[in-house]
Amino acid sequence: MRGCYAELLLVLGLLCTHGATMGFGLNLGGLGWGRCIEEERQALVGFKQGVQDDFHVLSSWDSKEEEDCCKWKGIKCSNRTGHVVGLDLRQNIFFGAFEFLSGEISSSILGLQHLTYLDLSCNDFSTLPGFIGSLTNLQYLNLSFNAISGTIPWQLGNLSRLISLDLSWNYNYGVIEDPNLDWLFHLSSLRHLDMSHVNLSKAINWPDKVNMLPSLLYLRLSDCELSMPFSLVPSNANSSSPLSFLELSHNHLNSSVLPWLYRYNNSLVHLDLTNNKLQGSIPKGFGNMVALSHLLLSSNNLNGVIPQTLNNLHSLQVLDLSNNSISGEVPDLSKLSFLTELYLSNNRLNGSLAKSIGKFYKLQILDLSSNSFEGVITEAHLSNFFTLHQLDLSSNSLSLTFSPAWVPPFHLDTIRLSSCKLGPFFPEWLRTQKNFSRLDMSDVGIIDTIPNWFWGLSSNIMILNLSHNQITGNVPLQWFSTRFIGYPQIDLSYNRLTGSLPRFNSDPVVLNLANNLFQGSITSICETNG
Ligand SMILES: *[C@@H]1O[C@H](CO)[C@@H](O)[C@H](O)[C@H]1NC(C)=O
Ligand SMILES: *[C@@H]1O[C@H](CO)[C@@H](O)[C@H](O)[C@H]1NC(C)=O
Ligand SMILES: *[C@@H]1O[C@H](CO)[C@@H](O)[C@H](O)[C@H]1NC(C)=O
Ligand SMILES: *[C@@H]1O[C@H](CO)[C@@H](O)[C@H](O)[C@H]1NC(C)=O
Ligand SMILES: *[C@@H]1O[C@H](CO)[C@@H](O)[C@H](O)[C@H]1NC(C)=O
Ligand SMILES: *[C@@H]1O[C@H](CO)[C@@H](O)[C@H](O)[C@H]1NC(C)=O
Ligand SMILES: *[C@@H]1O[C@H](CO)[C@@H](O)[C@H](O)[C@H]1NC(C)=O
Ligand SMILES: *[C@@H]1O[C@H](CO)[C@@H](O)[C@H](O)[C@H]1NC(C)=O
Ligand SMILES: *[C@@H]1O[C@H](CO)[C@@H](O)[C@H](O)[C@H]1NC(C)=O
Ligand SMILES: *[C@@H]1O[C@H](CO)[C@@H](O)[C@H](O)[C@H]1NC(C)=O
Ligand SMILES: *[C@@H]1O[C@H](CO)[C@@H](O)[C@H](O)[C@H]1NC(C)=O
Repeated sequence: MRGCYAELLLVLGLLCTHGATMGFGLNLGGLGWGRCIEEERQALVGFKQGVQDDFHVLSSWDSKEEEDCCKWKGIKCSNRTGHVVGLDLRQNIFFGAFEFLSGEISSSILGLQHLTYLDLSCNDFSTLPGFIGSLTNLQYLNLSFNAISGTIPWQLGNLSRLISLDLSWNYNYGVIEDPNLDWLFHLSSLRHLDMSHVNLSKAINWPDKVNMLPSLLYLRLSDCELSMPFSLVPSNANSSSPLSFLELSHNHLNSSVLPWLYRYNNSLVHLDLTNNKLQGSIPKGFGNMVALSHLLLSSNNLNGVIPQTLNNLHSLQVLDLSNNSISGEVPDLSKLSFLTELYLSNNRLNGSLAKSIGKFYKLQILDLSSNSFEGVITEAHLSNFFTLHQLDLSSNSLSLTFSPAWVPPFHLDTIRLSSCKLGPFFPEWLRTQKNFSRLDMSDVGIIDTIPNWFWGLSSNIMILNLSHNQITGNVPLQWFSTRFIGYPQIDLSYNRLTGSLPRFNSDPVVLNLANNLFQGSITSICETNG
C-alpha cells in the first residue's frame, strides 16, 4: 500500500517542495526565534508522541539536545512574545528519497494557541480532527498530499482568520467527502481555497457557498465530482468576491454554470473548465471577461463556431479549445497579441488558416492538429513566430510550401506535420532545426533521398516518425546509437531505406523498420541491446 502512495508522490514530487516558504505574505507577528515557552514545549512533545516518525524527521525535537524548542526543526516562534506561531512540517519529496510523518495529529497541538501557520502537507496523516477548529488564530492551514479520509469537520468553520486553506490531493487511501460545505460560510477572511479531489458530489449548493466568501481570490475544485444544482439562486451579484483564479476542471459541470461564472466577469484571470460537460456553442459571454489570461475549455461538448468576441480578450496568453466539436473558420483573433499557447486540436475547424495565424508574435505553442484546415502555408505565415517551440499541424489538408533557402526564425522542439503535403523533396528548412526532440513527418509525400545533413541534426530525439513516405538512402550505422535519449519511439516503416540494419545502445519502446529494403540479420539489433 505504502508503495502505491510513494509512486503517486514521486509523480507529483515537484509539487511537494519547499517552494513556498513560511510567510505566505501573512503577517506572522515578527518571526524569528525567541525563548521557548514551557507549556508550548510540552504541547510539541505531546504532538511528537502522537506521530509515527519512521524517518526521524523530528529528531531535533529533543530537550536533551536542545532546550529551546524555538530552535527545533519546523518551529517558528515570535521574537516579540516567544510563542510558537508557525509549525512547518511539509516534507520534501523528490525522486528516490523521501520521508514523512504518519500516525495521529494529537490534541496536544491545542497547547499552541498562538499558531498562525500550520503546514503538514506531504505526510501520511489519515484523519483531520475537528479540534483543529479550535486553533482560532490560524491564517494558513495546509493538509494537502496526505491520506486523510472522512468528512471535513464542521469545526473548521471556527477558523475565521483563515486566509489560506489547502485540503487537496488526499485521495489515495480514503476519500474526503463533504455533503454541504456549511462550515465555509464563516471563513470570511479566506483568499485561497484548494479542495481538489475532495468528493463534493452531494454539495449541491456549492456555488452559493463560494459566493459567501467575500475575500476569495483563488479557488481550485478540480476533480471534485461537482455537478450543477437544479436551480441557482438568482443573481444577487453584489456579494461576489474579486475571484481571479478559478479551476473547476474534471467535474460534471454543464452550461448552467455560466450565469454563476458571469458574476466574476471583471476579476477572472485564470478560468479552467477542462473536461466537463459544457454543451452548445462557446458562450459569447466569455468575451466580457476582459482580464482573462488563461481560458481552458478543452474536452467538453462544445460545438458551433469560435465567437468573434474572444478577440476582446486582449490579455489572453493561453487559449485551449481542443477536443471539442467546434466547426467553421477561425475568426480574426489579431488582437490577442500576448498569446503564447494556442490549442485548437481535435475539432472540426475548416477553411484557410492564412488569415488567422501569423499575428501572434509571442506564440510558443501552436497545435492545430486533427481538424479540416486546408490551403497552403508559406514562410510568410510563420515568419513572425520568433519564440515558437512546438508546432503541430498534423492531420489536416494543409500544404506546406517553403522556399529551399528559407531560414525560419524559430528553433522547434516539437515538429508534427503528419499527413500534411510537404514533398516530394526532403524539406531543406529542416536543416536549421538542430535540437528537436519530437519529429513526425509521416505520410507527407516525400519521394527523395534522405540528405546527409539529416543524420547530424538533433541528438535529443525521443520521437521520430518518417513512416509512409518513399524515402531512399542508407541509415548510417552509428546513427541509432548516438542520436536518441531515454526510451525513444522510432518509426521508419513504409519507405525504401537500404543498407544494414542499424545498431542500438538505447532501449526503444517502439522500433518499426518494416517495409523497407534493409539487409542483414535481425540479431544485430538484439545483440547490442543485451
Ligand atoms: C500546500 O502544500 C502543497 C504541497 O507541499 C503545495 O504544493 C501547495 O502550494 C500548498 N498550498 C498552499 C495554498 O500554499
Ligand atoms: C524579529 O525578527 C525579525 C525577523 O527576523 C526582525 O526583522 C525583527 O527586528 C525582530 N524583532 C525584534 C524585536 O527582535
Ligand atoms: C466553534 O463554533 C461553534 C459554533 O459555531 C461554537 O459553539 C464553539 O464555541 C466554537 N468553538 C470555539 C473554540 O470557538
Ligand atoms: C463520491 O461520493 C458519491 C456519493 O457519496 C459516490 O456515489 C461516488 O462514488 C463518490 N465518488 C468517488 C470517485 O469516490
Ligand atoms: C445541467 O445539469 C443540471 C443537473 O444535472 C440539469 O438540471 C440542467 O438542466 C442542466 N443544464 C443544461 C443546460 O443542460
Ligand atoms: C447587496 O449589498 C447591499 C449593500 O451592501 C446589502 O444591503 C444587500 O443585503 C446585499 N444583497 C445581497 C443579496 O447580498
Ligand atoms: C457578464 O457577462 C454576461 C454575459 O455577457 C452579461 O450578461 C452580464 O451582464 C455581465 N455581468 C457583469 C456584472 O458585468
Ligand atoms: C476528449 O474529451 C473527452 C470528453 O469529452 C474525453 O473523454 C477524452 O479523454 C478527451 N481526449 C483527450 C485526448 O483529451
Ligand atoms: C466549413 O464548415 C462549415 C460547417 O461546418 C461549412 O458550412 C462551410 O462550408 C465549411 N467551409 C469550408 C471552406 O469548407
Ligand atoms: C536542446 O533541447 C534540450 C531538451 O530538448 C534542452 O535541454 C537544451 O537546452 C536544448 N539546447 C539548445 C542549444 O537549445
Ligand atoms: C507514425 O505515423 C504513422 C502515420 O501517421 C502512424 O500510423 C504510426 O502509428 C506512427 N508511429 C508511431 C510509432 O507512433
